[in-house]
Amino acid sequence: MKNNNESFEIYKMNKNNYSKLVELSKRNALWRSISYLLEWDQETYMPADGSPLRAEQIELLASVAHKDKTSKQWAKLLSEFIDLKTGQYIHSTLDENQKANLREWRRDYLQATCLPNAFVKKFAKVSSESMTVWAEARKHNDFAKFAPFLSQIIDLSRQKAEFLGYKEHPYDALLDLYEPGMTTSQISLLFNTLGEKIVHLLHQIQKSPQVDDHFLHGNFAKEKQLEFGHILLKAVGYDEKKGRLDISTHPFSMSLYPDDSRITTRIHPTSLMDCASAVLHEAGHSLYEMGLPIEHFGTPLCESISLGIHESQSRFWETRIGQSKPFWMHFYPILQSIFPEKLQSISIDSFYKAINKVQPGCIRIEADEVTYSLHVILRFEMEKELIEGSLQVKDIPEAWNSKMQKYLGILPKNNTEGCLQDIHWSMGGFGYFPTYTLGNIFAAQIFDIFAKDNPSWETQVAKGELKFIKEWLNQHIHKYGKFYSAQDLIRKISNKDFSIDPFINYLTAKYKKIYP
Ligand code: CO
Repeated sequence: MKNNNESFEIYKMNKNNYSKLVELSKRNALWRSISYLLEWDQETYMPADGSPLRAEQIELLASVAHKDKTSKQWAKLLSEFIDLKTGQYIHSTLDENQKANLREWRRDYLQATCLPNAFVKKFAKVSSESMTVWAEARKHNDFAKFAPFLSQIIDLSRQKAEFLGYKEHPYDALLDLYEPGMTTSQISLLFNTLGEKIVHLLHQIQKSPQVDDHFLHGNFAKEKQLEFGHILLKAVGYDEKKGRLDISTHPFSMSLYPDDSRITTRIHPTSLMDCASAVLHEAGHSLYEMGLPIEHFGTPLCESISLGIHESQSRFWETRIGQSKPFWMHFYPILQSIFPEKLQSISIDSFYKAINKVQPGCIRIEADEVTYSLHVILRFEMEKELIEGSLQVKDIPEAWNSKMQKYLGILPKNNTEGCLQDIHWSMGGFGYFPTYTLGNIFAAQIFDIFAKDNPSWETQVAKGELKFIKEWLNQHIHKYGKFYSAQDLIRKISNKDFSIDPFINYLTAKYKKIYP
């Protein structure tokens, strides 16, 4: 009797302590959401002179959140359930959800305790300042202005890698922050093969008759483009009561929690498809966040797996659905009715080919599906060299241009179109770029299973029915949160290992038809 009572008491105590862990974890999710809100505001509505205060606010939040994450109370509670050194679970009564949370909490804790609080504060402050300088430098094609800030960021990133620790390459430590479990040597191997195959496909395409897309350029009223963006959002099942669409220089999605997940787009009055594809891309990200199980908010079970999986969701909508023929069978007549003077005389076949036109360009986010990965491979190679110290900041513009020549056969007119185009380095996001291409690779693997499960997807999509896609993704990807790792999730849903083959096969089959 006594024994039973005792174990019941221990059970109750554990249950209470586990609830405390959830409570503390939620507090951290709240800090994070406040910081996201500040960043969202910074990119959308903040007046220019607001930036010094914003940098201080973000620094304060980063510091408070980091103190919470590394507190003695947190470590003590956590170590009642999981051995912080070995990762062994301490109680046999834990369920699978609790185990997944504990695994992720431990990972996060070990990462956070590697970084001294003063370092975290400094990193947040320097990157916030750098973002402002970068925006100016990009505007005025002034690499020299950004260079000293970039040098600081690279130094800090190398220190970060040393603090975090790694087995083979310092870049592993940074990569692991965005794509847990993926290593530099794995990516190098993957990108080498992918780069070769894509360059080969690109050369084949360049030998075929080229596609005319002149009608996608001209003058397209901003309000009408935005109106079409909202039509697309509604169709994919993006609930504007749980999100909103704004304008920013660089499109992004920012989720505070599943019921407040916002996106932005940018509108080029001279270019028709920029806005629509940014809307579909960011909606894909946002639908993932909206589909996470809200009942687990505050814990890893209500967080996305990795940036690669996140990007797979955006590319799934943007390219696999939004650049498919069936999609435009329904939406092209609507677009024609919005811009009749431009599109009335253009057939859907010409339109479909035009939106899938392959042409090497300087800007990553404007790149077509075929050349996109080449932009990422270039950045990955440079990041790796910058972090290991084999490339110096002053040599970036030249190195950039020679890689552009090598992979895409073109040269940027200036650094604004070249090495200054992306925000990532100014944010301290070394290790981020590879996840874009991983996203395309994951999306292709996921799409193959989706198509098998939904053999009539093309007929449905051609009727403008898209919500079943969102539901399928909810059921197969979103609802798991961080329960599985990226590679485990792919294995679970496809019974296959992570592979570039579905992506290469898709590109080859699709573009052979467009460029016979
Ligand atoms: Co994205």
